[in-house]
Amino acid sequence: MNNCPIGVFDSGVGGLSVFSELIKLLPDEQYIYFGDTKNLPYGNKTKEQLIEITTGIFDFFESKRVKAVVMACNTTSALTYDYLKNKYNFKIYPIVQSVSKQIAMENYSSIGVFATNATIHSHAYKKEISYYNPDVNIFETACPKWVNIVENRLFEDEESISNIKQLVEEMLLNNPNKIILGCTHYPYLLNVLSRFAPENIFINPAKCFAEFILKDLNNNHLLNTSGVKIQPEFYVSSNPAQFISSSKLFYKVDKIKEICLQKILCNKT
Ligand code: DGL
Repeated sequence: MNNCPIGVFDSGVGGLSVFSELIKLLPDEQYIYFGDTKNLPYGNKTKEQLIEITTGIFDFFESKRVKAVVMACNTTSALTYDYLKNKYNFKIYPIVQSVSKQIAMENYSSIGVFATNATIHSHAYKKEISYYNPDVNIFETACPKWVNIVENRLFEDEESISNIKQLVEEMLLNNPNKIILGCTHYPYLLNVLSRFAPENIFINPAKCFAEFILKDLNNNHLLNTSGVKIQPEFYVSSNPAQFISSSKLFYKVDKIKEICLQKILCNKT
């Protein structure tokens, strides 16, 4: 079992911000990455739709005989993990639940959260962090336009910059010690975000998440010991060329396969 692959998924290139930390910390693992570009943005979908989508992805990973699935997606971690956690025979690592304890332990008095509509409305970060540190004030802001900015590389687009500026400035009025980038796409925006707030105010949970996974795999004797280096496999549900060009900041993908897992949702668009 320990030499089986690890599945990693997100709606698109966002999960590569997590994947890039995983391969640094766990270079001996074999990875299968799935970017569900056909169904993005996840942040505007209902819980029922997200469960259907995530089930399709988990079934795909099950067919690939993975030992673990990394939910490198805050939205599905927040909305589907509780439903899916006992339904599969492999380890499941949801990003929100895996990093919140560590963030809470830093004893900040106030924390901002930027995330998708669905994550913000679930209050997942607020619930998880307050569980470990009830005294912290948490300010949540949905940023529904940001995933599209990243996927389409609109980093210099005037409207995009003014939307980012407005949301950062509004958040700063709360005087947060730190602001969590609670969507894996948002670290791609750090260059723009840091024009309006000091870069070190932003928490990219990816590194802390990778450390959590390393520790847990180790504790469960699940680290790969084969000594065989296998290249990661990449899959998307549509538009592989766009994925390849948008991926570059965190990981340069050059070979990718297109597959459709969730027939119903894929056929709707
Ligand atoms: N990047 C994902 C997240 O962390 C999903 C973004 C989306 O597709 O809306 O929430």
